[in-house]
Amino acid sequence: MDLRDIIQPIDHELDLFDEYFRKAMRSKVAFVDMVARYIVKQKGKRIRPALVLLTAKACGTINESSYRGAALVEILHTATLIHDDVVDDADTRRGFPSINAVWKNKIAVLMGDYMLAKGLLLSLDNDDFVFLKIISDAVRRMSEAEILQIAKSRQLDLDEETYLKIISDKTASLISTCCQIGAASVTRDVDVLNHIREFGENVGMVFQIRDDLLDYTGRRSITGKPTGLDVKEKKLTLPLIYAFTKAPRVQTKAILRIIKNGARARELEQVVEFAHEFGGIDYTMKRAEEYSARALAALAILSPSHAKDSLTSFVEFFLARSK
Ligand code: IPE
Ligand code: IPE
Ligand code: MG
Ligand code: MG
Ligand code: MG
Repeated sequence: MDLRDIIQPIDHELDLFDEYFRKAMRSKVAFVDMVARYIVKQKGKRIRPALVLLTAKACGTINESSYRGAALVEILHTATLIHDDVVDDADTRRGFPSINAVWKNKIAVLMGDYMLAKGLLLSLDNDDFVFLKIISDAVRRMSEAEILQIAKSRQLDLDEETYLKIISDKTASLISTCCQIGAASVTRDVDVLNHIREFGENVGMVFQIRDDLLDYTGRRSITGKPTGLDVKEKKLTLPLIYAFTKAPRVQTKAILRIIKNGARARELEQVVEFAHEFGGIDYTMKRAEEYSARALAALAILSPSHAKDSLTSFVEFFLARSK
């Protein structure tokens, strides 16, 4: 299903969100404001604010605080992308030069911090303490996961369990936060909130597993970001982790040597081919499907609505997305 169709029930609400987001990013310091405008102009898919608004609509009636929640998560998400491109040494984001590519790492690090502060202030200024409680834990999980990921890439040793923990903390945490904030903006029903969190954690896993696959199989012209970067940066993801458990020891060693020495374009193809050959790609999709099923099961608590249908379609979209 097309993303545009999925978010159709909240088209108007997403327009309002855009306004909140733009305003919340403003700075009185001219240089900061200029960089902020550059960031606002390059819109992403807006999946996270869409999840806030859809869960809010599926659990009750969207209100002012739902919009602030949507702005909060997108600001935080954007801040993490800016930091992520520094950490991953990525030169492209959303089809344009990344902040670190244009203004260098120092500005990118500080700009990310600025945005984090702006996001938190937006909630603080409006007494959205529930949001802050939910999101602060996600920020902790994300930071821990990014550091663990670096440590593992230095050792070039990662098992499936640790991989799943890393992606759960670095990505599913924020996606789950979006769903929880959306629901918390309209209801206090603990049972609903728990199911919505469960939905978010699982659908978030699908999202990152697919992202890691796209790093192998995706097209830069469509994703708007570099491909093959995970292998280049020595980040082992599920297709390879699985293939390592199936391939003969000598072949695994050869692939690990390539990655350790910094894979070049031709060698990259060889690595992807290896993952294919030993069932890594198929296995990865199978895992993603398992998380999809869990996400869908958690939605059963909601009564029927267009917003609920969209949440259901989101699961499918995450599973099959090409951008
Ligand atoms: C990218 O997220 C970061 C990951 C967690 C993989 P998105 O794919 O949602 O990025 P934008 O906001 O659409 O650019
Ligand atoms: C994203 O992981 C996790 C974040 C919390 C930003 P990636 O490093 O794979 O994200 P992309 O592929 O650069 O968007
Ligand atoms: Mg990255
Ligand atoms: Mg990264
Ligand atoms: Mg990625």
